[in-house]
Amino acid sequence: MTFPVFQPFLGPEELAACGAALDSKYLGMGSFVGEFEQSLKEMLDLGEGRHVVTFSTGHAAMHLGLLAIGVGPGDEVITPSFNNIADFQAIDATGAKPVLCDVEEISLCIDPAQIGELITEKTKAIVAMDYGATLADHEGVAKVAAEANIPVIHDAAHSFGSSYKGAPVGHQGKLTMFSFDPIKNITCIDGGALVVDEEELVVPLREMRMIGMSQRIETSYKNKRDWGYDVHRLGFRYHLANLHASIGLSQLEKFGEIRQRRRTLYQAYFDRLDGLEDCITQGPLDDEIVPFIMCLRVPSARRESFKAHLLAAGIETGIHWRPGHMFTRYKNHRCGQLAVTNRIANEIVSLPFYPDLTIQNVDFICDEIRSFFKNP
Ligand SMILES: Cc1ncc(COP(=O)(O)O)c(C=O)c1O
Repeated sequence: MTFPVFQPFLGPEELAACGAALDSKYLGMGSFVGEFEQSLKEMLDLGEGRHVVTFSTGHAAMHLGLLAIGVGPGDEVITPSFNNIADFQAIDATGAKPVLCDVEEISLCIDPAQIGELITEKTKAIVAMDYGATLADHEGVAKVAAEANIPVIHDAAHSFGSSYKGAPVGHQGKLTMFSFDPIKNITCIDGGALVVDEEELVVPLREMRMIGMSQRIETSYKNKRDWGYDVHRLGFRYHLANLHASIGLSQLEKFGEIRQRRRTLYQAYFDRLDGLEDCITQGPLDDEIVPFIMCLRVPSARRESFKAHLLAAGIETGIHWRPGHMFTRYKNHRCGQLAVTNRIANEIVSLPFYPDLTIQNVDFICDEIRSFFKNP
């Protein structure tokens, strides 16, 4: 038996949903996308003040979110160096430059104490990303951002379904980005969304995702084409399609089960690994979290042999991530003192973590981990 790092949680419901979307004979952006946006709005309890727009990927959502708030050439956006390439590229695509910040030791999320040092008159946004099984210190980030009057974009690719201090993730920054790629807490195969706190941003975002066409959702969300559109602005082909949204809808219906399975598995890993010498987890599971990655930190000198030991037992592992400043394209970017990032970069390992994993599987994986550390 082999264990991949990730696996989507799919069943006959997704197949049935795809069948219904295909039967509609309208494969582009239509009624399923409209329904998915409405379901997200309800699930995230957004009320009237916040709005959802979906996209083809999380990266597309981040790119257009940055453009919508006016980020462009000559600007800077502060983001943790310990982040997914998608965010660096989204910033890059606007013509702005990512400025790389350190993370906090346990949460592995952006360090609010360092953000202030990196802010200049060029700073146009701060990206605060949640990582694995923890959330960023959003209050700390909001405080620094408010003092400098800079908007915060919450990268919640890892935290769909979690809450922060009682409010669902999606209520924190000016914009919140979700990813529904194949391995996320819910998947649309590929998909993304933005929650925005200003109604005025909604139409520009809808137009930009549709190569600038001013098609009205009143028509397209009925699976009808609108021939009277104009083009007012730059746009991209970044919309979500009906087929993908149909999968997202069926994933939302079983999100209660996804939440419970992910939480149980994280707790099982934590109970078995907590206190094991040379292994650092992200700590006990907070009640508000739906964990996405089960990450461990192991001594950097032994990481490769640790990975090889697990692989020999059929257990795949991942590295999330190699930090941005270690890539050729971003190595000369302005950055803070990246002491924690540099240390954890060679320690971090992701273990198999997906809802179909069983407690017996976790037992097996943790036994292999323990057997590795028994032999120094
Ligand atoms: C933190 C983070 N941000 C952004 C993205 C990009 O999302 P997508 O893959 O949907 O483009 C990812 C994807 O893994 C991610 O982990």
